[in-house]
Amino acid sequence: MYVHVNAAVSVDGKLSSRRREQIAISGDEDFARMERLRAESDAVVVGIGTVLADDPSLERHDESLGAAPPARVVADSRARTPTDAAILAGDRPTYVLTSEAAPADRRTALERAGATLVVAGDDRVDLSAAFAALEREGVDRLLVEGGGELIFSLFEADLVDELTVYVGSVLMGGRDAPTLADGEGFTEAFPTLDLRDVSRLDDGVVLSYAV
Ligand SMILES: NC(=O)c1ccc[n+]([C@@H]2O[C@H](COP(=O)([O-])OP(=O)(O)OC[C@H]3O[C@@H](n4cnc5c(N)ncnc54)[C@H](OP(=O)(O)O)[C@@H]3O)[C@@H](O)[C@H]2O)c1
Repeated sequence: MYVHVNAAVSVDGKLSSRRREQIAISGDEDFARMERLRAESDAVVVGIGTVLADDPSLERHDESLGAAPPARVVADSRARTPTDAAILAGDRPTYVLTSEAAPADRRTALERAGATLVVAGDDRVDLSAAFAALEREGVDRLLVEGGGELIFSLFEADLVDELTVYVGSVLMGGRDAPTLADGEGFTEAFPTLDLRDVSRLDDGVVLSYAV
C-alpha cells in the first residue's frame, strides 16, 4: 500500500492553535490540491484526536473529479468516535481501526452506526497490521490527513512513502500546540526526507518529499 501524508502547518510547524481548534492555514488553491489528492486515493485516514477536535467529514466537494470518493478511516484504539460524527454520516464506507482495548459496548455502537471495525493491536492500533487489513479490502493508495500523533506513529513504524506539507504564512506559537509530528519524538535514527518539489500556492509554499 502507498501511504501519502498531507498536512498544512503554520510557519512555525503547528497543525493548529494551542486550543486545538481548526485554523484556516491555506486557501482555495490548496483546498483544490487536497481534493485532487483525495480523488486519487482509495481511502483517507485521520486520528481520533482530529475527529474529536474538528469533526471532519472527509467529503470530497468537487464532484467533477470523477472516480468514487475515498473510503474514510479513523485510528481509534478505544472506539471513542461519537456515533453522530460526520465521518460516519452518509453511505460511504467508514473503517474504524481499533484495538483489543476498545470496550464491547462502544464497538457495538459504532457497528450499529454503520462503521466497519478493524481490530489490530492490544492497547493501541497496530498500524502495520491495520493497514494490511485495509489493503485486503482493496485500499492501495491511502491518504493521511493528520493529526500529529498519528503522523509520528506512521513515521515511527516506517509506513510513510510520501509527505506533502503546505506551509502557510501565519505564525501560531504555543509550546503545546500540535505540530506535524508529535508522539514521543525521535532521539536517534531520525527519518530523512528527499525533497522532490517546492511550489508556491495561495500565500504559502507546498513542500513535497519522498520518504
Ligand atoms: N493542519 C492540518 O492539516 C491538520 C490536519 C489534521 C488535524 N489537525 C489538528 O491536529 C489536532 C489533532 O491532532 P492530534 O495529534 O491531537 O490527534 P490525531 O493524530 O488526529 O489522533 C491521535 C490519536 O489517535 C489514536 N491512535 C490510535 N492508534 C494510534 C497509533 N498507533 N499512534 C498514534 N495515535 C493513535 C490515539 O488515541 P487512542 O489511543 O484513544 O486511540 C491518539 O491519541 C487538532 O487540533 C486538529 O485540528 C490539523
